[in-house]
Amino acid sequence: MKISVIGCGYLGAVHAASMAELGHEVIGIDVDQRKIEALAAGRAPFFEPGLPEILLSASASGRLTFSTEMASAADAQVHFIAVGTPQRVGSYSADMTYVDAALESLLPFLKDGDLVVGKSTVPVGTAARLAERVQEVAPGANLAWNPEFLREGFAVKDTISPDRLVYGVSPEPEAAAASKAILDEVYSKALSEETPLVVTDYATAELVKVSANAFLATKISFINAIAEIAEVTGANVTELADAIGFDARIGRRFLNAGVGFGGGCLPKDIRAFGARAEELGRGESLAFLKEVDAINLRRRQRVVDLVLELLDGQAFEKRVAVLGLAFKPDSDDIRDSPALDVAVQLNGLGAIVSATDPEAIPNAHAKHPQLHFVDDVADAVKDAEVVVLLTEWKEYRSLVPADIEGLVAGRRIIDGRNVLDSTSWRAAGWEYRAMGRP
Ligand code: UDX
Repeated sequence: MKISVIGCGYLGAVHAASMAELGHEVIGIDVDQRKIEALAAGRAPFFEPGLPEILLSASASGRLTFSTEMASAADAQVHFIAVGTPQRVGSYSADMTYVDAALESLLPFLKDGDLVVGKSTVPVGTAARLAERVQEVAPGANLAWNPEFLREGFAVKDTISPDRLVYGVSPEPEAAAASKAILDEVYSKALSEETPLVVTDYATAELVKVSANAFLATKISFINAIAEIAEVTGANVTELADAIGFDARIGRRFLNAGVGFGGGCLPKDIRAFGARAEELGRGESLAFLKEVDAINLRRRQRVVDLVLELLDGQAFEKRVAVLGLAFKPDSDDIRDSPALDVAVQLNGLGAIVSATDPEAIPNAHAKHPQLHFVDDVADAVKDAEVVVLLTEWKEYRSLVPADIEGLVAGRRIIDGRNVLDSTSWRAAGWEYRAMGRP
């Protein structure tokens, strides 16, 4: 099939390359000339395992091309909209400027039988509004909503073999059947017999996405709230999570207490969802998401407080090593990263922060040039009074006292992700502190 993907950011670039990998002829379109040049040269503009390989193989096959011109979408039959919906400045609601602009510039090129497919995470009600616009300008075309559930670090795998697919389709039966047939063909190689497929209305499809993210965020904040109670009672939140996780109704995944969630999705999506509920006159239904957000942000403060506690209340001119800047491992994404936030706060308190990360330093440096970045753990911990682990990269999880004890000025470590073995650190004479466990 001929496919256009409009918006080649995180979601769009992965989607375009993955669709080409599935055998389609794909044109990726973005207004950012530099991004398009990089992608056309087979370079991923961000770190994502597996993406460089499929970019190169798809480009070599001739099935994947890139352009800054919307006119190059004219040949395609399916048009994915994968532009960003960032948090609006000064408000919690989503900024729809990019989605609206993408559709408006696509409209003149739509032909009979084309399908516009929304992938971006949007406030519920958007798909119906955009479908109306498509009907006005290109009545022979249809619109479907097909939310994306990819996780950074696993984005290629999540796109090529999704754990479920959701199609939100038109209330008109004929349009709905035509849209479903096209999407089935798009995903024919990605779907196995067992892949669950939910075909539903626009609003449900939009809500599936934000509800899933709200649920995941709530699960993390739930366990972090329990961590707060564990901290004042001497309980161990990791053992607790294991124990409640054995209940299949609860499940162990996404119950890791720590410095909390960040990234380009969960924080902004729960805020935008709450803001949308307020617009719909149902603010009280999602008021709990404000608490989820507040618990999450408190965990960052908790790490800063622990650093101060270990430094007898004074961080000024004390050397602090920060291990990890990305919002999670296997990503160079620093959007709303708890790790970077903690580093910035410590720097603001006058600490001499040496921060490191395997992939995220260029992004972190661009946003916070005032921080001091170093290449590796050994440089970061040199003469440090406190070491703070904030992103659980594999190389940090496997850290043992012998790796760094000759380098530090004080044997104090804060395990912001609860990934180190407390016993061995304490046995080596370290003051070891974690999140919600003794
Ligand atoms: C998330 C959703 O998982 C994905 O389905 C959606 O499409 C986009 O948003 P992503 O942002 O890539 O994906 O990251 P995810 O793996 O969900 O982690 C989000 C944050 O939660 C990270 O900062 C992570 O460190 C944190 N987290 C996750 C915890 O603090 N504890 C956990 O148990 C799990």
